[in-house]
Amino acid sequence: MSKIKFYYGNEVPLEMHKVRIVQKLNLPPIEQRVEAMEEAGYNTFLLKNKDVFMDMLTDSGVNAMSDKQQAAMLEADDSYAGSTTFTKLESKIQEIFGKEYFLPAHQGRACENIISKTYVKQGSVVPMNYHFTTTKSHIVVNGGRVEEVFKDEALKITSDDPFKGNMDIAKLRDVIETNGVENIPFVRMEAGTNLIGGQPHSLQNLHEVRKVCDEYGILLVLDASLLADNLHFIKTREETYQNKSIREITREIADLCDIIYFSARKLGCARGGGICTNSKDVYMKMREYVTLYEGFLTYGGMSVREMEAMAVGLEETMDEEMINQGPQFIEYMSNELMKKGVPVVTPAGGLGCHINAMEFVDHIPQSEYPAGALAAAIYIISGARGMERGTMSEQRDENGNETLSHMELVRMALPRRVYTLSQINYVVDRIAWLYENRKLIGGLKFVEEPSVLRFFFGKLTTTSQWQQELVAKFREDFGDSL
Ligand code: F0G
Repeated sequence: MSKIKFYYGNEVPLEMHKVRIVQKLNLPPIEQRVEAMEEAGYNTFLLKNKDVFMDMLTDSGVNAMSDKQQAAMLEADDSYAGSTTFTKLESKIQEIFGKEYFLPAHQGRACENIISKTYVKQGSVVPMNYHFTTTKSHIVVNGGRVEEVFKDEALKITSDDPFKGNMDIAKLRDVIETNGVENIPFVRMEAGTNLIGGQPHSLQNLHEVRKVCDEYGILLVLDASLLADNLHFIKTREETYQNKSIREITREIADLCDIIYFSARKLGCARGGGICTNSKDVYMKMREYVTLYEGFLTYGGMSVREMEAMAVGLEETMDEEMINQGPQFIEYMSNELMKKGVPVVTPAGGLGCHINAMEFVDHIPQSEYPAGALAAAIYIISGARGMERGTMSEQRDENGNETLSHMELVRMALPRRVYTLSQINYVVDRIAWLYENRKLIGGLKFVEEPSVLRFFFGKLTTTSQWQQELVAKFREDFGDSL
């Protein structure tokens, strides 16, 4: 599991860092947790963090920073234009990705806005290995459409395919031929494919995608938000790259892409984002949108402190021991849950441990949001909040019908270097108990349903009083435990 061997067996992932700043946590009793969930409209996004014990909603903007990142923040050069901090960050991007031009933006979706505004128009079709919620919304509001060209393996919950995030090259060609190359502004590859369980693509696959893009003269755009995890998997799962350094692998990836964008809330353990390219033409097209929507070209909506932290964070991402921590903890959590029979996505990916709600609560129809219901139940019984990644995260079609998601997952994100192994063991214990009592969990229905990105702020209620039955059984089995 880790590079460190244990003499007596029982191998566990070993943290290669120590904790020097801590934050006190609060675990309210289950009765209060039900009230909090009720108030939040059974949407874990709407819980107040003071009511949450382990915040496993996302890794976005909540990864632990290093001492060096914190130190760099003190050196930030506050200036609207031409700040030294920006130059530092730009140089780090040039060094790591080998891209000359860097456009700063306030976060990942801001990059998507700029890229979509620049390239997507009515009738555009964007092929990608899998969509991400904000990406798809930006493409759609600009009149375009997403075509997913994943392999059949991508949607198999349990699999031993090391690269479920790969593109199906034959399908990619087919989408280009069917829609006409003139309607394809770019092909998008997402590192660490978020919505199918943080699954990586191989570097060989990226080479193949590049070849197709070259044949047709289409731009290749990489969403590198989850690149750190993907780098770990290329290094550990792709034979050809086992002796290459993370820096070399990163450079080989970058050289294959025309445009790279990322959310620095994930990549670089800071907050913010950016787009980089070697094409002056692309840079010139996009920079007007940066000044229009983000801020001046030397900060793009970010604070200088965050830019300092990002520059250091990107450098630290080139350290194998640093990027291993997330995937190793996720693998540990997934394995422990599997030992208790809990259905999880395999192989374990990046970002978080993904629980298969379709099987966990197979008595709840997709129209009653099984993953949303399971996420609510997990919070109620443990105080840990995960995120629904299923039908609730989809949008209704133009006739108002539900778009049933391919998968119903609950993502228990593991922000990097934040939780300890005993905390992971606690959540595993509670989820295993919930699995034994899964028939008590019921469905959800909307009471307030926004038309765009409804999973962020929509409110729901339970289809029966199942939450009370869950509390009663919890008290029976756990006594007066929190
Ligand atoms: N692309 C990917 C692959 C992402 O995972 C995210 C964000 C974005 C783009 C958008 O970046 O949030 O900085 O605007 N994912 C977060 C998550 C929200 O929780 O998975 P952002």
